[in-house]
Amino acid sequence: MADLPSHLHLVYHALQPYPADIPLDDVYANLDLPAGNGSRPFVYVNMVQTFDGQTVLDGAAWTIGTDVDHHLFRQLRVHADVVLCGAGTLRTDDVIVTTHPALQERRVRRGQPPNPLGIVVTATCHFAPETFGKKFFRRTDLDRLVITTPRAAPADVDRVRAAGVAVEIIPATPDGEVDLTAVMRYLTGKQVRRVLCEGGPRLNAGVARAGFIDELFVTTALRLGGDPTAPRLFTAPVTDRPLQLISEYHYRAPQGVREMYFRFRYPR
Ligand SMILES: NC(=O)c1ccc[n+]([C@@H]2O[C@H](COP(=O)([O-])OP(=O)(O)OC[C@H]3O[C@@H](n4cnc5c(N)ncnc54)[C@H](OP(=O)(O)O)[C@@H]3O)[C@@H](O)[C@H]2O)c1
Repeated sequence: MADLPSHLHLVYHALQPYPADIPLDDVYANLDLPAGNGSRPFVYVNMVQTFDGQTVLDGAAWTIGTDVDHHLFRQLRVHADVVLCGAGTLRTDDVIVTTHPALQERRVRRGQPPNPLGIVVTATCHFAPETFGKKFFRRTDLDRLVITTPRAAPADVDRVRAAGVAVEIIPATPDGEVDLTAVMRYLTGKQVRRVLCEGGPRLNAGVARAGFIDELFVTTALRLGGDPTAPRLFTAPVTDRPLQLISEYHYRAPQGVREMYFRFRYPR
């Protein structure tokens, strides 16, 4: 891993003085996120994109951002009880939701497990044999759950359970997807207070259209993808209202700005 910068430059913040240079470990460390609204958990989405908006580059997402982005996405997980991902991300990439060792200790001191619960939603619960070789199925240092629907074939559910991952079956929507309202109800019943949604773009669209996004974190890498077919942050129109900027940080290298980190309040 390349050397990380000691500080990021705070360009704007709606609630604290700016400009300022903020130690990297303090960025997104003390967000004090709300604990939901009583009927559902607080939901924040985190994604990385190229400057021209691609969220997939050469078939993957982690290749888009620098090591600073990788540091910050682990930092954002410290606040979450659950990290939610779509099955498409597990099939084409992987789903690992661990945070930094020092932040794991902080979670344990607060009575939380070291890492958030990793949840994958899939209406079908069907995964190719090679998907079972991915870290989501192999890593045992975090709790993992697949949420699926009655559409799933019992043999597919059994395969996931046999791989050591828990499965919860909840109702499907009329068009056969996982009912995200039912997911929120289930999580509320389990005392989940904060959910970090890490995509992909199709799940983001479903969560946005259900009205469940409270905040949106976006890393914008200063590089170009140039692929008009690559998915953007959302696969469908979700809102025509402006995002409300909460904070903007820059990673400044000697040769100039390398990457930008935005935090938005999602418009109602
Ligand atoms: N740039 C980033 O920050 C970032 C982050 C994450 C992922 N990605 C990239 O995004 C790509 C995958 O994204 P994707 O959009 O194809 O897939 P996705 O959003 O990860 O997953 C979509 C899948 O989730 C399942 N699903 C079940 N209920 C759903 C619901 N209510 N709404 C939406 N989906 C539901 C469906 O699979 P079933 O058919 O099994 O039901 C659906 O095909 C990967 O290439 C990954 O690398 C990028």
